[in-house]
Amino acid sequence: MKAVAVYPAQRIVKIIDRAEPRIGGPSQVKLRMLEVGVCGTDKEICAFAYGTAPSGSDHFVLGHESLGEVVEAGPGVTDLRPGDLVVSTVRLACSDPNCSACRAGHYDFCMTGKYREHGIKDLDGFMTEFVIEERHNLHPVARELRDVAVLTEPLTIAEKALIEVQEIQRRLHWEGRGRRAVVLGSGPVGLLGAMALVNAGYETCVYSRSPKPNAKADVAEAVGARYISSEQTPVEEMAEQVGNIDLIYEAAGAPQFAFEVLKHLGSNGIYVFTGVPRDQGPIEFHTERIMYNLVLKNQVVLGVVNAGPQAFDNAVRDIGVFAARWPRALGAVITGRFPMEAFHDPVMGKAGGIKNVIDIAQAGRQ
Ligand code: BGC
Repeated sequence: MKAVAVYPAQRIVKIIDRAEPRIGGPSQVKLRMLEVGVCGTDKEICAFAYGTAPSGSDHFVLGHESLGEVVEAGPGVTDLRPGDLVVSTVRLACSDPNCSACRAGHYDFCMTGKYREHGIKDLDGFMTEFVIEERHNLHPVARELRDVAVLTEPLTIAEKALIEVQEIQRRLHWEGRGRRAVVLGSGPVGLLGAMALVNAGYETCVYSRSPKPNAKADVAEAVGARYISSEQTPVEEMAEQVGNIDLIYEAAGAPQFAFEVLKHLGSNGIYVFTGVPRDQGPIEFHTERIMYNLVLKNQVVLGVVNAGPQAFDNAVRDIGVFAARWPRALGAVITGRFPMEAFHDPVMGKAGGIKNVIDIAQAGRQ
């Protein structure tokens, strides 16, 4: 079978041939991969700035945003059958017995940093024809969502954020708390985040670079969010237009922009960082206002990475909700489908569009 593999030391990304894997335990499931999404992390990995191969190997298979179809299940798996669609978790637990987070099943909060991530860190990914996975890492998806379910994993980031935001907002003991959100960036994480926020009842504004009209702004507006271009509207003006900003969901990965907007977080507001920036050298920054506001406005700054089982379940549920509520806008997030042989442009960031997807099932048909 074919796979897209990264060789970090040799700085090569290429298609390789591998033996088809076999089920090796009762709780394992064999999946035929249907689609794998490409994200900023994959582009960093393919620029050799991120990513590590499993120990003892000089390469690893790329891809962590998956949609697979069950082809076979071990004898201990009673609730999945061939043809069922599933999305896999990205991160697996570390093996340290003292990591209370991993031992409690919350790998996304791993304390040791020795977690493994499919297609990113110490584990093969999903850009290949067949994969073996443990049942407990799989989240079943309805067949009707075949065309959009590959967006589940990028949505899990917002779902994890929302779970935490709800916890934090419990401190506000009155009605109508925390209802205005600003999303920074209009890539897939930003747009799916905007959908999650609108769906959770937030008056949502997407604040992103490109002026309208553009395809990302169209998606934002189609789901009922407002779109404001940071090129046309300075941050002070945006903040004035929005009113008290209760929640900022950062999905742009641009530090200067992110901290500039932090100055405008409202009273009792929560700022969620999701971007993983590259080192661009030091920037000069006036920090007084940020610290002043954090204290005098009871603000919370939160970093969110990866997602646990609850966030995956919520994402599967909400992809279904979005597909029913905004079928065209959700579908419009996926702007390109590429056969595995044409992986180069999407993984090198040369394909443009919003979300590009590798159509693995096509490789199986050839
Ligand atoms: C993935 C996460 C992962 C993170 C850091 C993101 O692109 O969606 O699952 O934890 O990268 O490796």
